[in-house]
Amino acid sequence: MKRRSRQVDDVEHHNYSDPDAVLPEKKCRRTQKLKSIFLLLAVVAVIAKTSSAWMSTTRTTAVRLSYAPPSNVTNQFLATFEKVMSSPDLILPGGFSAYVPLILEDRKLLCRGSHKDVLSKARSRAYIEMLNKGLDSSEDLIDKDDSPSVPIILIESDESGCHNHIHLDQVPFPRLTWHVPPPKYGTGWCQAISMTGYESWNSFRYMHSYHDTWFFDYTWDARFTNNERKYPWKSKIGKAIWRGSTTGRTRLEHNITFDELSRAKLVKKSMDRPDIIDAAFTSFVQGWEVVLDEGHSNQTIVSRHVPFGALMKYRAIIDIDGNSWSSRFTKLLCTNSVVIKIDPEYIEHFYADLEPMIHYVPASLENITEVAEYVLDNNNQDEMKAIVRSANSWCKGFNTKEQLPKDAVSQLMKYETALMEAYNESGWDEDWRIVQRRIRENIGEDLVDCNV
Ligand SMILES: *[C@@H]1O[C@H](CO)[C@@H](O)[C@H](O)[C@H]1NC(C)=O
Ligand SMILES: *[C@@H]1O[C@H](CO)[C@@H](O)[C@H](O)[C@H]1NC(C)=O
Ligand SMILES: *[C@@H]1O[C@H](CO)[C@@H](O)[C@H](O)[C@H]1NC(C)=O
Ligand SMILES: *[C@@H]1O[C@H](CO)[C@@H](O)[C@H](O)[C@H]1NC(C)=O
Ligand SMILES: *[C@@H]1O[C@H](CO)[C@@H](O)[C@H](O)[C@H]1NC(C)=O
Repeated sequence: MKRRSRQVDDVEHHNYSDPDAVLPEKKCRRTQKLKSIFLLLAVVAVIAKTSSAWMSTTRTTAVRLSYAPPSNVTNQFLATFEKVMSSPDLILPGGFSAYVPLILEDRKLLCRGSHKDVLSKARSRAYIEMLNKGLDSSEDLIDKDDSPSVPIILIESDESGCHNHIHLDQVPFPRLTWHVPPPKYGTGWCQAISMTGYESWNSFRYMHSYHDTWFFDYTWDARFTNNERKYPWKSKIGKAIWRGSTTGRTRLEHNITFDELSRAKLVKKSMDRPDIIDAAFTSFVQGWEVVLDEGHSNQTIVSRHVPFGALMKYRAIIDIDGNSWSSRFTKLLCTNSVVIKIDPEYIEHFYADLEPMIHYVPASLENITEVAEYVLDNNNQDEMKAIVRSANSWCKGFNTKEQLPKDAVSQLMKYETALMEAYNESGWDEDWRIVQRRIRENIGEDLVDCNV
């Protein structure tokens, strides 16, 4: 898409100097041009004499009159963006329509002041923080002089709007989401772009958040040494562990039996081979409480919660999707146990950087027993230790206060490209200009730096 050098975005300051708004077309004769300039100067002179209160109302009127009547914006993205940005309230979460509107402008992130309170408690807060940090330090990624303003929609909830099995994208425009479909479902049908995970950011942020010095007093090498000391390989239990709750699908909504729940299948495997797989539920939710209420707890395994660090007592840790993507995958790759990853239905942007049998061991619910046998086989311990080393070295490069913000910005750049590709032939500049102007008129001063 060909972008104009700058959007006409500031009604208050640029109304009289906006060539498209006031001056005649470029092709007109010089005399006409001069006439217009005189007219313009006369208008400015009149306004200059008047009080500032009067001036502000007249300015708006002048813009409206001089501007081409708003073409009715048919761009669904912009229509949605305008609607969400114009609403003083942000209702989160709310399925795949839990939209958070932001504007990237002059390498700054803007949002509505009246949305800040909700955002400060939302998961999106982490992404906004990463973006703000990234934008401060990534001149190389964004050229300030040529940066157009970009409207952004991110989805706060678990939903991405994409349904893998039927290749249905319920949202008709590009948006930022926590996860996207894996490549096995094909590409090009889902317009979601993956954000940088809030959990990676938050866990490191909160773990090291004393006195604003989070991250700075912290190195992965120290953490890895500590893991080695506390959970040395030679004392690990020779089993693959998993703990979690009965998420995946709700009982009533999906009308499935407990045995059809992926996580229940995993626990069943553990009942078949308790010598190598130790998988158990720590809580029953989403309608599966009935399993306990009706006394069927002998059909599955119920156990106590195991703190994250203590999972390292086991040689292997199993990771499996729940309601959506497994946000603990990044953290598991920082432990000193091997990660067995059950073929995911939802992935994050960094999955493309990870290789099976290099960073983790891939498995399915069908072959998990064989895979666990292989992983735990004493003859394969060197290979497993090498996988842990690669995983840790990936972790060390990825989970840092510098890299996460950089990734947040580069995902944002991908998002911008997706938006431009989706709308590059349908008058984007003009539509965005109109919408932006209307938003500014409607919400005025409430568009502010988005530091939440
Ligand atoms: C515009 O869209 C077409 C079709 O989607 C694409 O091939 C092209 O690369 C796009 N151009 C730009 C500048 O994004
Ligand atoms: C489009 O036009 C209709 C009818 O004139 C109006 O109700 C609607 O608000 C317009 N939409 C936009 C986005 O301007
Ligand atoms: C749920 O599934 C069972 C068995 O497949 C079927 O008999 C029943 O009618 C279904 N109930 C609903 C509400 O769809
Ligand atoms: C589970 O317990 C119920 C009720 O005590 C019993 O009828 C059933 O046979 C048991 N199932 C298994 C698999 O042990
Ligand atoms: C197990 O399944 C996964 C996912 O489909 C696959 O990548 C892996 O190669 C399989 N492993 C074995 C040993 O069959």
